Amino acid sequence: MSIREVRWDQHVGKERDYLCVDAFIADMVGARALSTAFETGVIDYMIAHAVCTSEAMLVDLQLDRRGLQLLLGMLRANHVVESTCNHAVMADESDEIQLSASFKAAVVFRDLMEAKLYFANLVAPDFLHLLTALLMEPAKFSEQARIFKLFSYQRAFEPTAENYEQTARWMRITTALTKYEAQACIAAFDFSPYRRMLDIGGNSGEFVLRICRKHRELRAAVYDLPLVCDIGAKHVAEEQEAARIQFIKRDPAQLALPRSYDLITFKSMLHDWPDAEMGDFLHRAYDALDVGGTLMIFERAEASVKDIQIAYGQLPLMLFFRSYRTPQAYQAQLEAIGFHSVAVAEVQLDMSFILITAIK
Ligand SMILES: C[S@@+](CC[C@H](N)C(=O)[O-])C[C@H]1O[C@@H](n2cnc3c(N)ncnc32)[C@H](O)[C@@H]1O
Repeated sequence: MSIREVRWDQHVGKERDYLCVDAFIADMVGARALSTAFETGVIDYMIAHAVCTSEAMLVDLQLDRRGLQLLLGMLRANHVVESTCNHAVMADESDEIQLSASFKAAVVFRDLMEAKLYFANLVAPDFLHLLTALLMEPAKFSEQARIFKLFSYQRAFEPTAENYEQTARWMRITTALTKYEAQACIAAFDFSPYRRMLDIGGNSGEFVLRICRKHRELRAAVYDLPLVCDIGAKHVAEEQEAARIQFIKRDPAQLALPRSYDLITFKSMLHDWPDAEMGDFLHRAYDALDVGGTLMIFERAEASVKDIQIAYGQLPLMLFFRSYRTPQAYQAQLEAIGFHSVAVAEVQLDMSFILITAIK
């Protein structure tokens, strides 16, 4: 199958295949050049023309000659583009060039690649200007960082056009990440015994959509903020599974969670909250869960830097480094609430994830 025939929205591959996109977002220069290559149509052009010259590209896309040469150099250094012959450099504009085999394999996950590029480029200034605050004065970092302005949950209540637009902006990132992370969770956990699932902070419904697609007996509800639910309902509306997915808007006057679920999940949700609020969510989930039901937490684990430097594409997730917990922190809380049979597994993705299950 050629890469043009792949439907970006459908392709997920084997559960860890998607990690190949990270190689092209590892350093800032290469990643930013790749964003420009998407923005200017260079990548689409090279997908459409398996082999081309920069001269033809220049004419067809009407780009700046010297700008394009520098861009192609940066793409080549980032192993996105290569010469069809074995020149060390692209000697002139009539040289034939093509996308590298490794980039062709990675661009199959284009939605994720573009979401990660967008996220990293958007919050890179936080790292460049505010690293000292991030490390030494977290309150100051929270006040000033762009990343918290992006994830502005308080704008997910009042239904204005601007609030919908703002909310949809960060939901595109969480949805793209979750589309792929969900596959690893599905591979690591057997959802088949469950019939009614509640995903707290379930966002666009992408997580439950992937699970419902695999498990046809399962019905799922997403519990989230009002505008998030509206955007999520549209996100899944055209899918075959839509009839089995319900969105429940958080009502500040009704803090108890809806009941009658045999599985309640928190995916990449609890790290947003300090310990007391995390405990409160778990308490409420305990009350809402059927006796004998399962609670699942799927979260990034506490991370540190050992021998390998943090990649540029990972910066956005590392800005939350204070929020990730050890499995023991969740386990202690779950046991204090009354859950039993707490089990912990590790799932290695772009970062280490923990998959914790517990029974009521
Ligand atoms: C970091 S996002 C994770 C979303 C999704 N679970 C994922 O893995 O992509 C946290 C989610 O929690 C939702 N959220 C924030 N406050 C909430 C609350 N009080 N009750 C329910 N959901 C909430 C946000 O709207 C957002 O969808």
